[in-house]
Amino acid sequence: MVENVEDKVKDLLKKIEDGEVVDKKEDIDALKKRKLITLQTWKAYSLRKGPKYAPERKKAATDLTRDHLQRGDWKDLEFKEYNLSAQGQPIQVGYLQPLLEVREEIQNIFLQMGFEEMPTNNFVESSFWNFDALFQPQQHPARDSHDTFFLKVPAATRQLPEDYVERVKRVHESGGYGSKGYGYDWKREEADKNLLRTHTTAVSTRMLYMLAQQDAIKLLLIHFVYCYLMSGVICDHGLTLADLLGVLEDFFTRLGMSKLRFKPAYNPYTEPSMEVFSYHEGLKKWVEVGNSGMFRPEMLLPMGLPEDVNVIAWGLSLERPTMILYGIDNIRDLFGPKVDFNLIKNNPICRLGLL
Ligand code: PHE
Repeated sequence: MVENVEDKVKDLLKKIEDGEVVDKKEDIDALKKRKLITLQTWKAYSLRKGPKYAPERKKAATDLTRDHLQRGDWKDLEFKEYNLSAQGQPIQVGYLQPLLEVREEIQNIFLQMGFEEMPTNNFVESSFWNFDALFQPQQHPARDSHDTFFLKVPAATRQLPEDYVERVKRVHESGGYGSKGYGYDWKREEADKNLLRTHTTAVSTRMLYMLAQQDAIKLLLIHFVYCYLMSGVICDHGLTLADLLGVLEDFFTRLGMSKLRFKPAYNPYTEPSMEVFSYHEGLKKWVEVGNSGMFRPEMLLPMGLPEDVNVIAWGLSLERPTMILYGIDNIRDLFGPKVDFNLIKNNPICRLGLL
């Protein structure tokens, strides 16, 4: 028998009821275990003035001004620290359209390859220089009013080199220089008609004619190139198709487009003729980027060029290579009203070609 049973829990509860403090860990645990109490945590803060205490908000100064100096309050100023890793505002500059950038790049490549530029300011040309001199017959569909813009005023050219016109007429009508010609009545009125130059090869033709009028001895590797539609010619003794392939491959590789294919084609003024294709990674297909060939004797000999002189020539598109180089799949994204200005803005200032 035990006389006095000590009921510790009861004593503790009594204590709590009387408002006394129970603070021994083992007591608290015993009560908690039996869910007789719940634990509450209280947090208390004691607030004091800190070292930067200020009843009003101070604005850190960013500049020391004349007023600060005059008022003398510069002594108490707090300056804002420089944020040296802040990014600057984007610089407002002009942007080059990709077409213009590629045009310049192409121009530079040809100049590096030793070409000279042709004067190309004659956008109005006579049919003679645009077609007839190129051995393009007068009934050719490209000479149709659907395909070519003819001028109303002045409708006809004023002057052509008469003896050369005579030789061109003859080669169209009855041939010569080993050719049968086309066998039709060549009309001067047709050749006189003014038009908007349909290709820059018209310029190449004029240049070759002028060259042929010079001393033949001087005729050594003359290069021309025209940048817009980029027509180029090389005129030299004994050039072959291999020279044409080599020049085009060299040029496109410098531009960064080394996946090339050549396909036989037809032009009235070249034989053989080749279309040039390049692989478009975005479209996953081969796209045509140019046309080329060796000018026919029916075109060169009436000009008066010596028989052993050959001319390799090409016309290149500017848009297609630009699309390939910039990974643009749709020509409407490159020019016209739908061009996204950000595309132009965000393009790198220079594109490094694979030299
Ligand atoms: N004149 C051709 C065109 O406009 C290009 C070309 C030039 C083709 C020279 C062959 C030789 O597409």
